[in-house]
Amino acid sequence: MTSGVAAVIPAAGLGRRLGDQSGTPIPKALRQLGGRSLLVRSVDALSGAVDQVVVAAAADQLDLVREELADCAVPVQVVTGGDTRQSSVRLALAAVARPIQFVVVHDAARPLVPPEVVARVIAALRGGAAVVVPAIPVVDSLRQFDADGRSTPIDRSTLRAVQTPQGFRKDVLVEAHRRAPDGDATDDASLVERAGVPVTLVEGAHLAFKITTPVDLLVAQLLLRDESRRMSGSVPTVEPQR
Ligand code: CTP
Ligand code: MG
Repeated sequence: MTSGVAAVIPAAGLGRRLGDQSGTPIPKALRQLGGRSLLVRSVDALSGAVDQVVVAAAADQLDLVREELADCAVPVQVVTGGDTRQSSVRLALAAVARPIQFVVVHDAARPLVPPEVVARVIAALRGGAAVVVPAIPVVDSLRQFDADGRSTPIDRSTLRAVQTPQGFRKDVLVEAHRRAPDGDATDDASLVERAGVPVTLVEGAHLAFKITTPVDLLVAQLLLRDESRRMSGSVPTVEPQR
């Protein structure tokens, strides 16, 4: 059965904040995590739920990325990305097949997104939402700065951190990118919202965190190490704290 959903995966970023201590820099999407790259993990997280996967990669990494994805469970199209995340998504979107009705856009840098989050996003699209965003409560106390550098606390209970995959009716996403071909929106929902389309929030998950800094990669490595120990029965399973 076809799902009518395509996954667009922007993976053309430079990973500047992650950095790379090795002599030959490896693009962030190809950094390894528990024996598989961030990109392969992100593609695998979505591939069971979609008919088509399109990855945007940097122009000088196309062959490397194609090789990396050759053994994935689904065929993956790799297209040249742009200088910004927004342009990478726009370019990948152009390769989505015509009959596809829905698109989920997922950062290659969120390799541990749980399948429930993907399922919630797609279910909300099928339920009639045009734009769906997984989000989680903010845990830190927050302050906002004014132009004079003075800061005031803001009520974190009114805020949510947004994640991916973000889901869209394809026509709505294509139109939003057509209206704003340039620019540097850090997510697609904010772009579509500018065109006046309401956004539906669904529950995200802490595990869908984005690997941005070296600490994030270390946390992901430790999480996977713990998971594989639990699977092998060497440590007791710990129930997540609510
Ligand atoms: N991305 C992209 N094209 C760009 C910039 C970003 O496809 N020109 C992708 C990244 O590969 C990543 C996602 O958008 O999967 C989220 O971006 P981010 O976490 O900021 O990754 P980078 O831009 O690679 O990292 P940095 O900003 O630290 O350089
Ligand atoms: Mg970036």
